[in-house]
Amino acid sequence: KRVLFVTSEFADLIKCGGLGDVSAALPRALSPQHDMRLLIPGYRQIVNSGRPIRIVGQVPGIAALPPCQIGRMDLADGLIVYVLLNHALYERDGSPYVDTHGRDWADNHIRFARLGLAAAEIAAGDAGIQWRPELVHANDWPAAMAPAYMAWRQVAAPSVLTIHNLAYQGLCDMRCASELAIPEAACGVDGLEFYGQLSFLKAGIAYARHVTTVSRRYAWEITTPEQGCGLDGLLRAKVLGNQLSGIANGIDESWHPESDPHLLQGFSVGDWAGKQANAEYVRRWLNLDADGPLFAVVSRLVHQKGIDLTLEVAEHIVARGGRIGVIGQGEPALEAAMADLGRRHRGRIGVHIGFNESDARRLYAGSDFLLMPSRFEPCGLSQMYAQRYASLPIARCTGGLADTIEDGVSGFLFDAPCAAAYRQAIDRALQVFEHPQLLEAMRCQAMRTPLYWRQSVQAYDRLFQRLLSPVSARRA
Ligand code: ADP
Ligand code: GLC
Repeated sequence: KRVLFVTSEFADLIKCGGLGDVSAALPRALSPQHDMRLLIPGYRQIVNSGRPIRIVGQVPGIAALPPCQIGRMDLADGLIVYVLLNHALYERDGSPYVDTHGRDWADNHIRFARLGLAAAEIAAGDAGIQWRPELVHANDWPAAMAPAYMAWRQVAAPSVLTIHNLAYQGLCDMRCASELAIPEAACGVDGLEFYGQLSFLKAGIAYARHVTTVSRRYAWEITTPEQGCGLDGLLRAKVLGNQLSGIANGIDESWHPESDPHLLQGFSVGDWAGKQANAEYVRRWLNLDADGPLFAVVSRLVHQKGIDLTLEVAEHIVARGGRIGVIGQGEPALEAAMADLGRRHRGRIGVHIGFNESDARRLYAGSDFLLMPSRFEPCGLSQMYAQRYASLPIARCTGGLADTIEDGVSGFLFDAPCAAAYRQAIDRALQVFEHPQLLEAMRCQAMRTPLYWRQSVQAYDRLFQRLLSPVSARRA
């Protein structure tokens, strides 16, 4: 089947977190079964990537959403990426979502409504490209207007929305409705209205034929008032209509400790010399003392990830002989606090604000433990990468972390989002570190735990087949 995968990140060209990884891996994993093509805004990093982009069509736009050209990029492995080209909207310094000072772009509602509309225009056959999707797969709030525009334009193709993170909703002022050509009838509480504002994510949930999220546990959690971010009622209604499911993410084939070219030296179960080589690199790079267990933080530095909890327990770790290596970026206040921690504990805590893939992978590979005390975690890829590279995650028992880590077997889980519970889990990890045989056994278990995408692909495939079956089309 022809499927348009709409996303705001794509790890080959630009990524801010796990959505970028998933957008690079899932369409490829589904490619043998389906004609998967991506649609992504033409950010500067994409337009200037050096890969040729051929103009293949144009979408007309409406209201404040301007006409745009559609470019086509053919990647070496055959994946086709449609790039939504508009110099003024997308070609800027900064990330997809924020400027170089970390502030949301003021016109994000226009930029991403434009993305959703372009998907609907392509699905309606209005883009002049010789390809029309039979199904549109939108991801997170930046793409979530696609199902809504498709419904308003009576595009017959079914749409799927995958929620990678319910906490980011894409809210904007109700007065933007006319700029975005949102019909008045859709501005009520049964439509996009969310506590007096317009919510892109709510639009996607309301109008998509089916909603998925990225782990089974999170699929349940988001139907509860505690974790539903105000949308739990609507999500419960989706469950009743058999329109909400959890499909866990996988990791892609590049995460292989024996052959990952980012690593300084490969390694495998029982042959830890390569792991040691990566650890030595990391300790040199972050100016860490050569002794003591190495704890890693590879994370967006945001509230979700419980970075403040790690700040609270860091001295405890150091006092017990541990070293901490940090790579990540995010909220300016958390970045500053982390950097300050590193300055106060030279040789014991090394902090790199920023991100690059090779160093991140070497840190997963070189560390003994990964710190991931997330307040909530829809799926989480970092804990799976760490496990594959024999770094045992110490994580909160929530969402995808609960689904992918077996406490005391492939990592350590704790319940309460507080420093006391976190410290206890760290102490358990340190005890294991003192017992080489136990440590080795847990590492072996961890390395076998994460699943490659093949598993999840079957679930997406079944879903797509169901939505595209003639019976399902009649019912819609
Ligand atoms: P999330 O998507 O919530 O950040 P995941 O665990 O699903 O969490 O995915 C994290 C992915 O993003 C990993 O590939 C990790 O190495 C990467 N990553 C972590 N921090 C950053 C960052 N600041 N910039 C870019 N990628 C990051
Ligand atoms: C989000 C979530 C993370 C998930 C990722 C990919 O960023 O925070 O848990 O793994 O999306 O689905």
